[in-house]
Amino acid sequence: MVELAPFNTPRPAEYAPIPKPLTRRNLKGRSIPPGPRSPLLTLQFQKDTPGFLRAARDQFGDCTSFFLGRQLFIGAFSPEMVHEVTVSKQHQFIKGVGFDRMRKVLGTGLLTNEEPIHLRHRRLMQSPFHISKISSYANTMVELTQKHISRWSDGDVVAVGPEMMSLTFDIVADILFGADISADTKKVQRAMHIAIDRIERTMLPGLDRFDNLGLPYFRKFGSAADELHEVATRIVNERIEKGIKRDDLMGVLLEATTPEGEKLSAREVSDETLTLILSGHETTANVLTWVFSYLSHLPKYWSELAAEANEILPHKKDENFARILLAAPLSSAIFNEVLRLCPPVWVAPRRALEDVTLGGVEVPKGAHVLVSQYVTHRDPRYFDDPDAFKPERWFNDFEKSLPRGAYFPFGAGTRKCLGDQFALLEGRIIILEIARRMQLSLTSGFPVAQPRATYRPRGAVSMKVSLT
Ligand code: HEM
Repeated sequence: MVELAPFNTPRPAEYAPIPKPLTRRNLKGRSIPPGPRSPLLTLQFQKDTPGFLRAARDQFGDCTSFFLGRQLFIGAFSPEMVHEVTVSKQHQFIKGVGFDRMRKVLGTGLLTNEEPIHLRHRRLMQSPFHISKISSYANTMVELTQKHISRWSDGDVVAVGPEMMSLTFDIVADILFGADISADTKKVQRAMHIAIDRIERTMLPGLDRFDNLGLPYFRKFGSAADELHEVATRIVNERIEKGIKRDDLMGVLLEATTPEGEKLSAREVSDETLTLILSGHETTANVLTWVFSYLSHLPKYWSELAAEANEILPHKKDENFARILLAAPLSSAIFNEVLRLCPPVWVAPRRALEDVTLGGVEVPKGAHVLVSQYVTHRDPRYFDDPDAFKPERWFNDFEKSLPRGAYFPFGAGTRKCLGDQFALLEGRIIILEIARRMQLSLTSGFPVAQPRATYRPRGAVSMKVSLT
């Protein structure tokens, strides 16, 4: 049985110790890369973090430094540095600022875990996400999408943001855990909205000391975390108590054993459940909301997508349906382009566990290191006219021409997204199912981004439905 997880669970003792933060004083004259030093820097960083990082790259180059909460941060933006941080030198880093706060919500699930626990769990959880298994989910994804959008009529104005959230939530809940959590959709969404907002709004080091002071803004963070744990805990406890056996992800988690014969504890299963509920729907929902925002008022793409849908979707009983979908040229290009421009995970904070060089630049032990999908995906050396929406750039195997680390919407290395194929398949299906029946157009201007733990559009993003 799992008890309700406390908001203040300590950092597991098996993790590598967090190195001392670096301030100007304990740098002791070591040279650091150039970067912004304005007295208003914290304000600028908080106001528009992606914009701040991009401006720092434009002004100071691929490697830049700055101080937040008096601690040294290094922005590492070239593809070479991204590859080093995420793959070739990944073991010299742990996950950085923001993840300790995320752990207050997600417990020690895959996203927030560190070694040696992370790899042990990752091995156990890999099988339901293998491409051969993912293919068997395609039909459920199609059915749930059809059911969801059949409620939209010609001329309706729909709130595409929340609609995509509940659709992707239903999909992940149904496929990975059975129907158990559909009754909790609203509760989970409300709590998650608060949690995601508080995690990143307070990305500055040291601000978590406010979490327990009883201020209403921070108190809500704690109660949102408790509500989410309550849902995950209940699902796991029910399965254990009733002895329910199912061939879904939770079944795998409850039964799985390592080669040494070790099983996950009920608490670990609960944390992994919550991690997958959260990481498995919010990201994809945001990309899709951006996709339909970009497509609004571009009838050329809608008709070409409808043709692609009519060609591909009838193959849904085909054994190779998932592979056919993943190769669909236009929906793939559009999804890739939106993942480039509006990557849901737009920054990946790390902490250097030892002195390390990135792209030949020395980074001292203890520095916070930020790689950013948002910044690197807009590098004009690799993406011509980087702010423009140009799905066509992805035709003719463009991705293969890019250097490693130039495009990494799903991260890389052992911390690469576990659900990348799941998300890619789901994204194609939702885009094509919608384009087959209708066009969506924004009822007001293009949405403004509200970057938090994910790169979200602000507001409900209302669109008018025109059935075709
Ligand atoms: C378009 C949708 C998605 C995007 C862009 C995305 C992106 C990412 C990124 C960049 C990371 C690595 C974070 C880091 O390096 O700090 C990550 C990790 C993760 N994602 Fe996703 N994700 C998406 C959808 C999903 C889905 C659908 C699932 C599950 C059903 C999922 C589960 C996870 C998990 C479990 C991790 C942690 C992996 C580990 O550290 O071993 N994600 N995701």
